[in-house]
Amino acid sequence: MKIKLSFSLIYILIFFFGFSSCKNQTAIDKKVEKLLYQLTLEEKINMLHASGTFTSGGVPRLGIPELRMSDGPCGIRMEINRNDWKLCNWKNDEVTYFPSQTALASTWDTSLAKKFGTALGQESKIRGKHIQLAPGINIIRTPLNGRNWEYLSEDPYLVSKMVVPIIQGIQYNGIAACVKHFALNNQETQRGFIDVDVNEQALREIYLPGFEAAVKEAEVLTIMGAYNRFHSQYATYNEYLIQDILKGEWGFKGAVISDWGACHSTLEAALCGLDIEMGNARTPFNQFYMANPLLNEVKKGKVDIKYINDKIRRILYVMLRLNVINEPKFDTSGMYKRLAIPERIALTRQIAEESIVLLKNQNNFLPLDASTIKSIAIIGDNATKKHAGGGGSTVVKPRFEITPLEALQNKFKGKVQINYARGYEVPQNSWNIDSSMNSINEKLIMEAVEVAKKSEYVLIFGGLNHNWGNDSEGADKHSMKLPYGQDKLISEIIKVNPKTAVIIICGSPVEIGGWFEKTPALLQSSYLGMEAGNAYSEVIFGDVNPSGKLSFTFPKKLKDSPAHAIGEYPGEKGKVIYKEGLFVGYRYFDSKNIEPMFPFGYGLSYTSFKYDKLAVPSELKLNDAEIPVSFEIKNTGKIDGKETAQLYIHNEKNNSGRPYKGLKGFEKASIKTGESKKVIIKIDKKAFQIYDTLKCKWVVEPGKYEILIGSSSKDIRLKGSIKLL
Ligand code: GLC
Repeated sequence: MKIKLSFSLIYILIFFFGFSSCKNQTAIDKKVEKLLYQLTLEEKINMLHASGTFTSGGVPRLGIPELRMSDGPCGIRMEINRNDWKLCNWKNDEVTYFPSQTALASTWDTSLAKKFGTALGQESKIRGKHIQLAPGINIIRTPLNGRNWEYLSEDPYLVSKMVVPIIQGIQYNGIAACVKHFALNNQETQRGFIDVDVNEQALREIYLPGFEAAVKEAEVLTIMGAYNRFHSQYATYNEYLIQDILKGEWGFKGAVISDWGACHSTLEAALCGLDIEMGNARTPFNQFYMANPLLNEVKKGKVDIKYINDKIRRILYVMLRLNVINEPKFDTSGMYKRLAIPERIALTRQIAEESIVLLKNQNNFLPLDASTIKSIAIIGDNATKKHAGGGGSTVVKPRFEITPLEALQNKFKGKVQINYARGYEVPQNSWNIDSSMNSINEKLIMEAVEVAKKSEYVLIFGGLNHNWGNDSEGADKHSMKLPYGQDKLISEIIKVNPKTAVIIICGSPVEIGGWFEKTPALLQSSYLGMEAGNAYSEVIFGDVNPSGKLSFTFPKKLKDSPAHAIGEYPGEKGKVIYKEGLFVGYRYFDSKNIEPMFPFGYGLSYTSFKYDKLAVPSELKLNDAEIPVSFEIKNTGKIDGKETAQLYIHNEKNNSGRPYKGLKGFEKASIKTGESKKVIIKIDKKAFQIYDTLKCKWVVEPGKYEILIGSSSKDIRLKGSIKLL
């Protein structure tokens, strides 16, 4: 009798708890379980790998669609054939071409980041996609990385603050963002197998925070596993990165998608956290590692069904969050009219204008006065180069792309004599990086010199251009030097006409040549999208006051960069050791007192700003919420402008093992001439956290800290101190 009672009691308890836990399950989880229960093993496996170049398998009988994916961070990639990389040559897939992400980061404007993500997601939705393979957020560790321009910054805080609104914007449209490339994909050299060795401190404090914010704050629905290895295991199914940190510690509920061809194993991929294997049809899709080979391993009992079910739960979770189960058939009618609409084109221009960085402006050489100019020389291949079709997987087919020359011709409509000279060219054999980058066309230089001689002013548009080994996916730069003889071109031009402004287009640091001392003005931008030319014109002629600030350091020379001075690059025998640890970017230049060419966070304005009246609470208790740091910025110049104030924190007990300071806040303020504005930057204990590799958790050390308010990481305008209790 007693035994019978206890059994029935147990059943009642199981039913109650089972029911109550079921009651606590979200509605989505319940739908996931219902669908999971109906799937056969074969159908489940079919969902775990590519079914086309940009699709993964579906189960039509249950209304489970193929997941349709598209690149990239600068716009929706032109339509590609289902099973190869050839273009479909649709006539209605011209889209908005957005500025690159280093451009977006140089605006330091999180509201623009949200608008960008929203706009990108809108067009992804119109093109019938489910997953937008963006944003890319790998840390800019070396100036040479071919994909720096596709990423945001060298600083994890700036990355974390910009990536969240981008993802929220994309996903607001019912499109899954796919933050990439997780993790430590900081070079293109040997990207397919390079084995990264980085210490836990730097992993946690430098390379992962952007991804952690994407998961915990933006609830990103998918993550792309990187090509490289970490501690000898491929990143896309790295047990520590994917299982322990991403899905374990961070509680990521979405799906991990491999980079294309990044999966090299069936068992490891199945057991260490890869959910969808992507790649193109070089291999028949049913022979992918996570296709028939995986089915066989499950049938042989090598892979428990629980691993398969976890992957399916994640994929179904994404689909249900996107509400695409039983979705209506994708219809392209009317699509053309709804892509690249004026509002989104205007947004690209706003981002472009706000991203341009004024690096030098001697005697207020800029802005030029359009009303008095008689003639102007426009020199440089980048004055006419269209960048949308270059760079690799981030290629875009824009409705149009305004080059600097076109913009200036449109602006002056014949009223000003515009003399164009190419100045330099990209040689035919541009696949050979060294010979291509070092080529000089003397004839083009001479022609440009003649054009400069006969013009009142000169604008030189130089820099990089997505050619192979020159801000392009798949290959790193071989040097920081400007390619194709530009240093000589610029020097020769300035000799004959000192009224020359230089505009360097580059998505990664370049070496600024000796001509810098002689030019009165220098502007820098990354790739600015379809309205690039108009944005340059607006800034050069003063319709817009530049407000961009560098999101990465410009070293004077490559060997000043920590990855090259302390660290290893590109590594040896397939392994690269990030010996510089935490000392990435300004953290290195600051702490080792090495003068950069231009510091992180640097950017001038046509006006000037005075900082004053810093107010910092004397103390912060660890369980306090957030505290306000306030100060005033006065516009002391003659025109309205925008200023990004940056808040850095320095631990007064600083030991040499750690960087001198770190960025922990920023605020972009629009301030009218003569006006003062109170700026408040809120900080909480997270701003003081460091990762304790012994306790394996974030900790805060009580003590005295300095609060540094700067116009750049080197130009500290106000200092205060606070006691952490
Ligand atoms: C590429 C890139 C990745 C891109 C994918 C699809 O190799 O690394 O960023 O999204 O393949 O084109």
